[in-house]
Amino acid sequence: MRADSLLGRLPTCLLGVVALLMPVIASAAAISDGAAPPAAPRIDTSPVPFADPGSALAEGWQHGAFIEIFVRAYKDSDGDGIGDLRGLIQSLDYLHDLGVRGIWLMPVTRSQDRDHGYAVVDYRDIEPDYGDLEDFDELLKQAHARGIGVIMDYVINHSAAGNPLFTEASSSPGSRYRSWYVWRDVAPTDWNIMGKNPWITTPTGSYLAQFSPWMPDFDMRNPEVMAFHKDNLRFWLNRGVDGFRFDAVGHLLENGPDEWSDQPGDYALMNEVRALVHSYSQRYMVCEAPPNPEAFASPDACGGAFLIFGARVLMDAARGQEISIAGVANYFSAAPAGIATILSSHDLFAGDRPWNQLGGESATYRLAAATYLLLPGTPFIYYGEEIGMASAADLQGDPKLRTPMSWTGDRTNAGFTSGKPFRPVSANVERQNVESERGRKDSLLAHYRSLIGLRNRYPSIARGSYESPVVAGKVMSYQRRHGGENALVVINYGKHPAKVRVRGLPTAREVEQVFPSGTGGRLAVDAQGASEVAIGAQSVLVFVSNPAH
Ligand code: NOJ
Repeated sequence: MRADSLLGRLPTCLLGVVALLMPVIASAAAISDGAAPPAAPRIDTSPVPFADPGSALAEGWQHGAFIEIFVRAYKDSDGDGIGDLRGLIQSLDYLHDLGVRGIWLMPVTRSQDRDHGYAVVDYRDIEPDYGDLEDFDELLKQAHARGIGVIMDYVINHSAAGNPLFTEASSSPGSRYRSWYVWRDVAPTDWNIMGKNPWITTPTGSYLAQFSPWMPDFDMRNPEVMAFHKDNLRFWLNRGVDGFRFDAVGHLLENGPDEWSDQPGDYALMNEVRALVHSYSQRYMVCEAPPNPEAFASPDACGGAFLIFGARVLMDAARGQEISIAGVANYFSAAPAGIATILSSHDLFAGDRPWNQLGGESATYRLAAATYLLLPGTPFIYYGEEIGMASAADLQGDPKLRTPMSWTGDRTNAGFTSGKPFRPVSANVERQNVESERGRKDSLLAHYRSLIGLRNRYPSIARGSYESPVVAGKVMSYQRRHGGENALVVINYGKHPAKVRVRGLPTAREVEQVFPSGTGGRLAVDAQGASEVAIGAQSVLVFVSNPAH
C-alpha cells in the first residue's frame, strides 16, 4: 500500500476531515503522553547560500553497500520506546563491522505522521522524537569517522497537511502560499490515482494530494517552490550530509487526469536537483521512481534510481527459477550505472521481508543476498535483513515491515529499548538477532559481512564493468573488471552440484578464490582464458585475479 496504512483503513469520505484535523490530533497525542509538546513548526523559507564543508569520506565511498534505516525502529537511547539519533550513533560500530559504506535515513525531518516521516512539517528541523540538530551533526561526525556516509530521505513532491505552509495556503484563496500547492475551485471527478480521486475538498477549495489527503502535492511549476527545496537541500548539504534519497520523483508534475506519472518535466526538475547536489564534493543521490528507474537513473535526471520491482526477480532467481536467473544476468548487461538494487524495503509494494517471502529457507536467502551484493549497481540492505529479521506476526500492511531492530532475543523489547517498544517486535526475534549471530561464523550476519567485505576489498566488485554473463540451466556466471583486476562470480541456484565452462578469463594463470574464503581454492585458467568450474548445490564462488596483488 503506497499511502499510509492507518489512513488506508478509514472510509475515503472521512479522509478529508482527518487531513484537516491532523495537526490537532498530533498535538493532542503529544500532550496526553505527558511530554512537553514540541514548539510549533515554523515557516522558514529564508535563502541558504552554497557553503560546501567538503567531504570527509574516501573517494568512491558511494560504491559500497548501503543500509536503509528507519530511525524510529532502530535503537532507542532514552527508554521512551522510540528509536532516536543517539541510539543510531550507539549502533555505528555494528554498522561499521557489517561493512556498509552508506546509511539511508528514512525521513528524520520533523513530521506530522510521527511514524514513517513522509509527511514533513518542517524541512529544516529534526523530528523531536529522534533528537535535534546537534544530535544529527554528531551522527554525521561519528559516521564519517567510521568511513560511512549518511544520505537523508527528502520528500520533494508533497508536504504534510500540517506543514504551516499548507495550513497558511488552505486558509484562503488569497493566502501568500496558496500557489505553492495545486488548487481548483471545484474538485475534478475524472482522476484516479492508485484507486482514489486525489482531489480533496475543503471549505476554501480543492487541493491535489496524490498519496494521501494529509500529503498535499506541492505545485512544482512554481519557481518559489523549487527555490525553497533547493534552499532546504543546501541547508543539509552545508551541514555535511552526503546526499539524498528523493521520494516519489515520478509524481512531481501533473498534466491531466491520465498524466500524473513520469512526466517529461519530472526528469528536468530532478536534473536541476542533481546539478545542485553534485555541485558539492563527493555527494550521492538516488531516486524512488518505481515504474521507470532506468530513465530516472540517467545522468540527465537523478543519476541513480531504485530497481524496486526488480526485487521480485532477484528473489525468484534465488529460488532457482530459470527465467529469472536469465533475466538478472541479461538486465545488468545494459543497466544504467546508477541503478540501486534492493531485496525489500519499508514499503510492502516492494515485497515482504525476505525471511517471510522465503519461509526462512536459509540457503535461498543466502543466494538472494549474494546475487545483489555482487552485481553492479548500489545495493541497499533494509535494516535487519542481514540477520534475517521477519515481519511482525500480528501486524498488517507496511507497519509489519517496520518493527524494532532485533538486537537480542528478548521477546518484549528485542534489546531495542529499555522501555516498551512503540510497535510489536519481529516474529522471529528469539531465533534471528544480532546477539545470537554475532559470534557465529555460519550465521546469516557473517554471510552478509563477508559479501559486503568483498565489495570493500575489490574495486572490480564494487564498481567494475559487467562482462561475459553466461547462464547454463540454474548456474549464472559473469565477470567484473576494474583497472587490472578481474573478478569471476559463479552462482549455482540449483539443488545439485554443477560444472560450468567459463571463458574470457586472464590467460594461463591461477586465479585465487576469495569466496568462500579460507577454503584455499584456486582456478587454473588455460592459454585461451578458459576454465572449468565445479560448484556445489546452492553455492556461490568468487575468484579474483589482480597482477598487483
Ligand atoms: C514512497 C515512500 O517510500 C512511501 O513510504 C511513502 O508513503 C510515499 N512515497 C509517499 O511519501
